[in-house]
Amino acid sequence: MKKRQRKFCFRRYIKNGKAVLLLGTAAVLLSGCGSGKEETVKSIKVGVTLYDQYDTFLMEMMQAFKEYMLKKESETDVTISVEILDASGSQTTQNEQMRTLVEKGCDVICVNLVDRTEPTTITDMAEKNNIPIIFFNRELVAEDLERWSKLYYVGADAFDSGRIEGELAADAFLTDDGMDRNQDGICQYVVLEGEAGHQDAIVRTECSVNMLLESGVQVEKLGYAIANWNRGQAQTKMASMLAQYAGKMELILANNDDMALGAIDALKASGIPKEEWPVVVGIDGTDPGLEAVEKGEMIGTVYNDKEGQAKGMLDLAFALATGEGLEDIELESNRYIRLPYQKVTKENVSNFRK
Ligand code: BGC
Repeated sequence: MKKRQRKFCFRRYIKNGKAVLLLGTAAVLLSGCGSGKEETVKSIKVGVTLYDQYDTFLMEMMQAFKEYMLKKESETDVTISVEILDASGSQTTQNEQMRTLVEKGCDVICVNLVDRTEPTTITDMAEKNNIPIIFFNRELVAEDLERWSKLYYVGADAFDSGRIEGELAADAFLTDDGMDRNQDGICQYVVLEGEAGHQDAIVRTECSVNMLLESGVQVEKLGYAIANWNRGQAQTKMASMLAQYAGKMELILANNDDMALGAIDALKASGIPKEEWPVVVGIDGTDPGLEAVEKGEMIGTVYNDKEGQAKGMLDLAFALATGEGLEDIELESNRYIRLPYQKVTKENVSNFRK
C-alpha cells in the first residue's frame, strides 16, 4: 500500500468512526511512518499529458474532467490536484513529460498518446515506478496495453461512431429526394479524414461507408482528404475539393465535427446557396458541432460522450490512487472503459446542449 493510500485510510476513520480508526492506525503503524499525530489532510495527485491541448474534443473533455473533479472532491473530502501538460504533437516531449510527472509524485498518470504505436517508453517508466497509467482517446493496440497489469484505457467504440454516422447519411439519402442532386440514384460523397493511423479515422471512414451500403444506398466516392481533425485544414482541403468536383458532391462524411465545420466554412466562403450544399455529417457533438446541427448546417452528428469518458477516467484514477472502490468500476477485460456513442439530429439536439 502506498503512503498516500494509507493517509486516505486514516482520514476515513475521522469521518466514519472507531472501527475504521483501528484499520487506519494499523496501516500507518505497519508502514513504520506513524507520527503519532492524526493526519487530517488527504490528497491525491493526477498527471495528464495531452497530444494537443488545442484539439477541440480534448479541450471539452478536459473541461468536463475538471468540473467532475470538483464534484468528486466535495463528495469524498479528498483533495485532488491535477497537472495537465501539452505534448504539442511530439512523442519525445510526451515521454519527457511522463518523467516530470513521475518525479512530481503523481499517483496515477493519464496519457493521451501522441503516437499510439509508441507507448513503450511510457509503460516501461510506469512499471519501473509502479504508477498506474490510464491511456485515453488514442487507443494503443491490445498487446501493448497487456504489457503490465496497471495499464488501462478509457475511450469509446470507434466502430459504432462510423456505423451511426453512416445511418445518419443513409436516412437523409433515403428520405430526402433532393439530396440526390443529379437524380442518378447513387450517393456521390467525399470523406474528410482524421490523422492517418488514428484508430478513429481508419474505422470511422470504413464503417460509415459500409453502413450506407448495408442500408441499401449505392455510393460513389469522389475523393477524400486528410485534415488531421482540424477545422482550418478541412476548410482548405474542402475548398479545393469543391472546385474539383463542382456541383457533383452530395455528401460530406467528416471523421469529426471540427472537420465538418471546416467544410461548412468552405461552403459558406464559396458562395454556393445553402439549398445546394451537399449534406454534411460529423462525429463528436462538440459545442460548435451541436450548434451547427441546431442551425441545420449539419444534418447530424454522433455524440462522443466526453462527460462519460472524463468521469470514467477520474473515477478510475481516484480508485487507483486511493486503493478504494476499484471493485465498483466496470472494466471490460479488466482494463477498458468504453462509453457508447449516440445519434444526434435536429430533433434531439437540445438534449445534448448544456
Ligand atoms: C475525436 C476527435 C479528436 C481525436 C483526437 C477523436 O476521438 O473524435 O475530434 O480530434 O479523437 O485524438
